[in-house]
Amino acid sequence: MNILLTGGAGYIGSHTTVLLMQAGLHVCVLDNFCNSEQIVLERIARITGKPPSFVEADVCNTSVVADALKRYEVQAVIHFAGLKAVGGSVTQPINYYANNVQGTISLLQAMQSSGVKTLVFSSSATVYGNPQYLPIDESHPTSATNPYGRTKLHIEEMLTDVSRSDPAWRIACLRYFNPVGAHESGLIGENPRGVPNNLMPLVAQVASGLRPYVQVFGNDYSTSDGTGVRDYIHVMDLAEGHLAALQYLQKNVGWHGFNLGTGKGRSVLEMIRAFESASGQAVPFKVVPRRVGDVAACYAKANKACELLGWSAKRDLASMCESTWNFRINAKEQ
Ligand code: NAD
Ligand code: WQD
Repeated sequence: MNILLTGGAGYIGSHTTVLLMQAGLHVCVLDNFCNSEQIVLERIARITGKPPSFVEADVCNTSVVADALKRYEVQAVIHFAGLKAVGGSVTQPINYYANNVQGTISLLQAMQSSGVKTLVFSSSATVYGNPQYLPIDESHPTSATNPYGRTKLHIEEMLTDVSRSDPAWRIACLRYFNPVGAHESGLIGENPRGVPNNLMPLVAQVASGLRPYVQVFGNDYSTSDGTGVRDYIHVMDLAEGHLAALQYLQKNVGWHGFNLGTGKGRSVLEMIRAFESASGQAVPFKVVPRRVGDVAACYAKANKACELLGWSAKRDLASMCESTWNFRINAKEQ
């Protein structure tokens, strides 16, 4: 099967590219490197033994995307390309709507004109807004608490309309919880530009001495130890979920939403302790006031993906931390 991965040079996209290539699929990556680097493609080649096909382009350039779909005889698309920083979306909402929503419209136009109607979309647990119950299942009400989450929700709703308009479309919206970890090779991993927004890359930077301590955003939540609880999932489990979704769409038309999480919630302090065990490094921290917009706890009910996709997360917390640390050490040496 020939697959186009928009944003395939990014954190989740690169890991999914590796997995799909090793599963024998022909992968074409389309990326404009706004949050990744060309070297990721070289590292994918070192892992898989050959480079993926590649088109350097903005997904908003509809004609270039349509050309790539035709040239590589694409049968399905996984749409990773998007801006994902919540804070950035609050200060620059127009950029987020242009890149994420307009970019998706451009992709859909290119797919329609090329007769490609199988799509896996990178959605997010952020479409659930503030959890009304836990664990969160796919029937939980959706809402947005920031422009980033609103772009994801708008895209999901657009895709619902597309599916209703033409029963030939096969669409899976994968709602990721908190992706962490790295490929076992240590060659690819989460390598954000600038100051990381997410906990795990920050913890890794403190463990490696790049930062003096982790700021723990509040310890007065109604959780086991007062710190925020999230559903951290290994990026390779996430990649496997994409392959399972592609296989499911071969047999199922229509729009489908799936949670991709472990079903387990872990606190900030649990993550810090687990990282210290995995890395053998101290991870100092200071408790500071809560971050605006954070919720106490958010974790998935992942039964639907297990029942319908035959997928569930397999990798444990130690593996998430060890692989992150391994990538951190390797990245410094390269
Ligand atoms: P990332 O920033 O590492 O990867 C995104 C990739 O898309 C980058 O390589 C970037 O250069 C590319 N890109 C962005 N806009 C583009 C455009 N207009 N045209 C072409 N390429 C473009 O992010 P990630 O963590 O790999 O996330 C991938 C997707 O998953 C995103 O849509 C994100 O919103 C979603 N997601 C991420 C998380 C997370 O915590 N990482 C959680 C839920 C959902
Ligand atoms: C995790 C926990 C923080 C940093 C975000 C986006 C979401 C999705 C995943 C794209 C929370 C705490 C964090 C720090 C801390 N991305 N924390 N100190 O906020 O659950 O989700 O990434 O789709 O849309 O909102 O992830 O890693 O930022 O935070 O104490 O320096 O760690 O309060 O409890 P989050 P996170």
